[in-house]
Amino acid sequence: MNRPTTDRHRELAARYGTPLYVYDLDLLDEGHRALADAVPEGIELYYAFKANPHPALARALREGAGGAGGAGGAGGAGGGTRPCRAEISSPGELDSALTAGYTAAECLYTGPGKTASELEYAIGRGVRIFSVESYTDLQHVGRAALRLGAVARCLLRVNSAGTKAANTGIRMMGKPSQFGIDSETLPELMPLLTSVPGTEVVGAHFFTMSNAVDEAGLIGEFERTVLSAVQLAEEVGLPLELLDIGGGFSSPYAVPGERAAYPKLAAELERILDLHLPGWRAGAPQVAVESGRYLVGGCGFLVSGVVNVKDSRGNRFVILDAGINTLGGLSGLGRLLPAAVQLDGAEPEQRASLVGPLCTPGDSLGRDVQLPELAPGDVVVVPNVGAYGVSASLLGFLSRPAPVEVLVRGDEVVSATRLELVRTDAAEVAAR
Ligand SMILES: Cc1ncc(COP(=O)(O)O)c(C=O)c1O
Repeated sequence: MNRPTTDRHRELAARYGTPLYVYDLDLLDEGHRALADAVPEGIELYYAFKANPHPALARALREGAGGAGGAGGAGGAGGGTRPCRAEISSPGELDSALTAGYTAAECLYTGPGKTASELEYAIGRGVRIFSVESYTDLQHVGRAALRLGAVARCLLRVNSAGTKAANTGIRMMGKPSQFGIDSETLPELMPLLTSVPGTEVVGAHFFTMSNAVDEAGLIGEFERTVLSAVQLAEEVGLPLELLDIGGGFSSPYAVPGERAAYPKLAAELERILDLHLPGWRAGAPQVAVESGRYLVGGCGFLVSGVVNVKDSRGNRFVILDAGINTLGGLSGLGRLLPAAVQLDGAEPEQRASLVGPLCTPGDSLGRDVQLPELAPGDVVVVPNVGAYGVSASLLGFLSRPAPVEVLVRGDEVVSATRLELVRTDAAEVAAR
């Protein structure tokens, strides 16, 4: 795959201004094929919209690498890779999914704090599969379903006890958490969980962690997940029509590099599932995985302009027009950014702080970063920000415009849009 050149990014920057996100659909296809190749054929792929809810990206993941009908596809059967389904957590993500062509039946609605109004919105639009994170969350889903005369098919998200297999900076389970139902409470809770009006428990959802670089660790984590599910099915009667074993597929964020390779994972998962859940090949249970960053991380570039270069007491500050309002607002939580952003193709000629335009010392993309010589008017490119870029940033902070987002395929610009935050009358919104 030819990666887009800095010249191409400069050209786009001249046309649309900076800061600018460029998403390359050919690179998106690469990520899609990589995940499809990494897990066995019969496993469903859910795209986690939180990584990037841009409907045109999500549409490409639904149509399969190679596009609808498979034209130009190089990897998947019939020219198109296995289509993704949608893992969504808000009305906005649901709207994006529907705009992108996903049917409501292809959506799995997740999240620990689903409100009555968002549940009614989702059920009203036809969503029927929900991951529930507690008995009370299940009751909320049931109440909304009953109000709309529906039955919600629910996966119990399980917070398994025990030791971890994979090393990752982002572990969500196996400790006290707002996510999932503690596995040790399931024997007592199961009779309650299976008798909530408006709901039917049909399976389990495990999402234990994100970003596992080490393949052996990831395989170990999936094995523990499958064993947990089987044990809960046998011991407490956990239904297993649909088993979502989660994810953890790793991809670099805001630094150069390639997504992790998992050459053994598909065969190992087949072995694990054949051994413990032999009906899985016939869809009993239907097994699913979820991913955000592995699918879309590598397709995105942030193109930013240098506004100023300033020396202060022996330290150099390169001031960009993109800060934490544009990239990595969640860095404040120590959650997403690496220690420092690194630029694409930058020959190291100096060390400096890379900062944004916001009036807060927190607006830093990296301290003591290796940079080329830079001057106002130059354009720099941050790679691997297709996931957790715009959607994970402090878009409203300091009221600067959101960046333009451009989708390209080859030399063609497929779409160019910009999110806008608009203040509206609250009474009007409530009346809608
Ligand atoms: C339930 C769930 N699914 C999927 C994801 C996506 O994770 P990633 O982008 O690391 O694949 C997350 C991330 O927090 C999550 O919480």
